[in-house]
Amino acid sequence: MAVKLAGLKDNARKTAIDELQACMTDAAALSMALKQAHWNLKGPNFIAVHELLDAVKARLDPNIDEMAERIKQLDGQAIGTVEAVAGGTRLAPYPTDLTATEDHLREICDRMRAYGGRVREGIDAIEEVGDQDSMDLLTDASRQADKDLWLLQSHLD
Ligand SMILES: [Fe+2]
Repeated sequence: MAVKLAGLKDNARKTAIDELQACMTDAAALSMALKQAHWNLKGPNFIAVHELLDAVKARLDPNIDEMAERIKQLDGQAIGTVEAVAGGTRLAPYPTDLTATEDHLREICDRMRAYGGRVREGIDAIEEVGDQDSMDLLTDASRQADKDLWLLQSHLD
């Protein structure tokens, strides 16, 4: 049986489902990239960056969960398999041969920036159709992504 939220037009529901799915797909790819960097980096700031990457992931993962569960409230299907993420993300494949902390930070910042941009696209698209709650959810995710990008990028400048 469908949830059928009252006061939401069908096109708002459909647009929000598509945008939330695209954002959660990029977030899931980013989440795995954060671990790839967390495990493999080496360098003078090792412990600070190693721990920061895990903290960023710990703030990102609940947003993936919120996006997926909002899709269910909108009567959509949340797709979070590794195959769907690999096939659907706009993020570039994460290099598997890096070790230097700076190289990992650059790669992660590129992907944080791309993810943040995708979430902002989602906010704009959903604003046009009028689902304030999905917009609010993505706005939280976007604000967090901006802050974490700043924390990561500050190690490079
Ligand atoms: Fe760890």
